[in-house]
Amino acid sequence: MPASGASAVPESTPAAGSTVPLAIDADDLAGTPAGLARLAPLTAALATAAAAGLRDRTGPLPARTPAEFAEQVRAELAAGGGVLPDAGRGAAAVVDLIRRYATGAVDLADPGAAAHLQPPTLGVPAAVEAIVAALNASVDTWDSGPYAVEIERHVVRALADRLGLPGTADGVFTSGGTASNLHALLIARGAVADRLAAGARPVVFCSAVAHFSVSRACAVLGLGADAVHTVPVDARYRLRDDLLAGALAGLAADEVPVAIVATAGTTDFGSIDPLPACAELARRYGCRLHVDAAYGGGAVFSARLRGLLAGIAAADSVTLDLHKLGWQPAPASVLLVADGADFAPHRVDYLNPADDGAAGYDGLLDRSALATTRRADAVKVAATFLALGADGLGALLDRCHHLARYAQRRIEAEPRLELAAGATLTTVVFRHRGPDPDALNGRLRRRLLRTGAALVGRTTIAGRGVHLKLTLLNPAARTVDVDDLVDAVLAAGDQEREAA
Ligand SMILES: Cc1ncc(COP(=O)(O)O)c(C=O)c1O
Repeated sequence: MPASGASAVPESTPAAGSTVPLAIDADDLAGTPAGLARLAPLTAALATAAAAGLRDRTGPLPARTPAEFAEQVRAELAAGGGVLPDAGRGAAAVVDLIRRYATGAVDLADPGAAAHLQPPTLGVPAAVEAIVAALNASVDTWDSGPYAVEIERHVVRALADRLGLPGTADGVFTSGGTASNLHALLIARGAVADRLAAGARPVVFCSAVAHFSVSRACAVLGLGADAVHTVPVDARYRLRDDLLAGALAGLAADEVPVAIVATAGTTDFGSIDPLPACAELARRYGCRLHVDAAYGGGAVFSARLRGLLAGIAAADSVTLDLHKLGWQPAPASVLLVADGADFAPHRVDYLNPADDGAAGYDGLLDRSALATTRRADAVKVAATFLALGADGLGALLDRCHHLARYAQRRIEAEPRLELAAGATLTTVVFRHRGPDPDALNGRLRRRLLRTGAALVGRTTIAGRGVHLKLTLLNPAARTVDVDDLVDAVLAAGDQEREAA
């Protein structure tokens, strides 16, 4: 920690074990000039501790079973008097916590981490997050954070323009793709509220490999278990629009189509549903087209891949997660709507009364049906856009796409492996061949988890069983790292086969 005077923790900080309460004065608050000056040395000390913690590791995960790990954390906390001691233990305890946190976190920058849509974050937004937290603005009301409100408007506009949405478009940052999809379907339900009130049965169409948040949103919205009609996919895991057309044509008289949810970047396969056909069907049947581009939306930054999103401009709403293909700390999800009037005005006496609004003092409260206090997430995104530009982000995606294509070729060339889905974006799905492949692939993944050597994803393909997945989101990884991952899978598979 820095010497006294530069320390973020006041000199009156009690020694470990002391019962003297921490004295707080204004300079101890993060969002003051003095507080911000102290943030730098404190952050530096924590970064040093985290780096030391990372150096203690031997792979992307701690080489412990979950039970061993839970016991280790319990014992460490207990040795210090528990996670909520009566008397604070000062900065040393914080440094200790962060060192352990880094040792026990998933190391997403390790090229052996390739399981989830959880990228290593860029330095710029991570640093910005610390300042955003210190200033703690909220975007619900103008007086909770004027700059945060304006920057969210600009980032939303920039994303809508990139996607080709109309001038009427608007949007809102949410807590994640799950929340963005829920909000989109809330709006869609609102558009047919009269027919539902008259007794019509709601129907939401999505593909058989759409994200589970779509059906969960329907449940949350009370649309009923039967509301979700899943449409089969083709051999490349894209919604079959011929079957969607048939399903729409076959709706009963008392069924009302609420929305077609097309996925641009399915979680496992990165596949992109036929957006133009879905848009045409939505128009013909008078329902909304929501595009879940939580994963694939980042393709809009890549000159090479943006063509995959052709047709997205016709969507009524789009989910786009920049904490996936945007390398942002979560959350950084945006729900965009083609018509800003979808965000129903919402006046609350203590936040945005009508006369304040008429005088221009409006924040973004009515953009968000699911939150009141809302983080200034757009600031880190704006910082990233300004620092890297769209081309810079596109280059990161191109790099990961290149790695995924390399992984695909390597898997195809390996007789002990069987490719199920090649690289559309940055994922590759495959499995190890062998007797009882479901059990084998499950066990080999857990072996890799247990040794902490590599972190690969897992999924089940309907009718084809348990598979493994590489989700390649580390733009600093090299093809040799992909080889190491594949080699680790092969070795673990062989060991499991021998052990069986
Ligand atoms: C296609 C898709 N939609 C939605 C989500 C949910 O996003 P979040 O985890 O941010 O809620 C995911 C998550 O992986 C996803 O892949």
